[in-house]
Amino acid sequence: MKKMRRPLILEAIKKYAARDVARFHMPGHKGLDEFEEIFNGAKTDITELSFSGNLSSEKGLIADAEKQMAEVLGSFAAHIVTDGSSCAIFAMVYAASKRGSKLIIPRISHKSVYNALKLFKMEPVFLPCVEKDGMLIQDVSSLGRILNKEKKAAGVLLTSPDYYGNVPFLEIAADETRKKGKLLLIDGAHGGHLKYAAPHLYAGEFADAWVDGVHKTLPSLTQAAVLGVNDEDLDEDIAEGLSIFRTTSPSYPIMASAEFGVLFAEWVGAEGFRRVADLADKLIDGAAGRKYKFVKTADRCKLLLDCPASGLDAAALVKYLEKHGVYAEFSDGRYIVFMLSVCNVKEDFDMLRKALIAYRRTKFKKAENVGNRPFIGFEPTRVTTYTEAVNAPYDLVLPVNAEGRTAADNFGFFPPCYPVITAGEAFTKELAEALVKADDSFGVKDGRLKVVRNGQ
Ligand SMILES: Cc1ncc(COP(=O)(O)O)c(C=O)c1O
Repeated sequence: MKKMRRPLILEAIKKYAARDVARFHMPGHKGLDEFEEIFNGAKTDITELSFSGNLSSEKGLIADAEKQMAEVLGSFAAHIVTDGSSCAIFAMVYAASKRGSKLIIPRISHKSVYNALKLFKMEPVFLPCVEKDGMLIQDVSSLGRILNKEKKAAGVLLTSPDYYGNVPFLEIAADETRKKGKLLLIDGAHGGHLKYAAPHLYAGEFADAWVDGVHKTLPSLTQAAVLGVNDEDLDEDIAEGLSIFRTTSPSYPIMASAEFGVLFAEWVGAEGFRRVADLADKLIDGAAGRKYKFVKTADRCKLLLDCPASGLDAAALVKYLEKHGVYAEFSDGRYIVFMLSVCNVKEDFDMLRKALIAYRRTKFKKAENVGNRPFIGFEPTRVTTYTEAVNAPYDLVLPVNAEGRTAADNFGFFPPCYPVITAGEAFTKELAEALVKADDSFGVKDGRLKVVRNGQ
């Protein structure tokens, strides 16, 4: 009989699942056996049956689960999303597009924010970011002034926390938007745990609407997210947005895991998150920490290792750690970012500690430069609006022909995946060349850059 071809993805993930590893990456369930039992593979993967409700219905099992989640989050409404935080961001921006043609965003916004602006023909107004230790930090101090000037802005969409665990001053943002009757939306894809880990930083305390990307930091399956809304009128538009963007076949295991993540976080409470943050502090204060420079951000569930400041090449250390069973979330060439969740156990930190100490005894590769992403804090010149540029006829040009031309797309280096130059801004020679030369850039197609056609 003819043999089935080898399923490449399945083989790769099964191989990883069989290894004894410390998972400092998403999803937040960390592959614990307990969750395998709870989400029980194919048997729980069902469809809408007589008893199982319907994500699009205002009544029934799922509506009841959402009501209970809203009670837990203290919000007007809570929507389960099975298509990632990206889908929730689309729904929030859709609702915003009914209230204004511009949206104030930080340049470090996730690509889903830029895509949503493109879809709804909204213009970004950039909130300044300041560079600190090689990271771009959202600076809300000028928000009041921007809101005064930008009358067409529906409001602001902040990212909190960002991929590194930095949190902008949400209190200031909430004050300014409330005073002007504008929206405060928050991309909290990395912040679902903060309701308990650091309630004073939790998006839901400040925002009109926000997304908790529960799969990133809580025990939920990949793609599970929860969209919280604190305003009844806004909720109508958000619910409409969700009904447009989400699948009509939501995965029951993902929905169940979104609910489970929220309830689990409430159950373990502040104590559960303190336990894991204390384990991280112990590592930093101990022998490994004395040999390495860790950087702390507002979110204690993000552990950042500054490789150049520790005298090390980041890529070589990542390779070594993985060989020794320790998988981090990402490295940007300077930092290695370890994502922690309540499901990380002491053994994970022991593995990391041992590997870090052992690495110092090897002939490790030394840092060659500070390792920052190129063009951090670069401020390109705007030539035309974002909306015009993404909708204009375009050419694909080689970097030598890109200088001074207007980008027709967003380009940058990843991770993290935010643009250095956005549509409507002018390329410099150096940036065009660096983007095409880099292995880890996005926006580049076959070594060419998408630019607005001359004369348009
Ligand atoms: C800051 C931020 N926002 C939004 C998203 C999108 O989340 P998802 O992948 O769940 O759609 C991500 C994904 O990495 C992110 O880092």
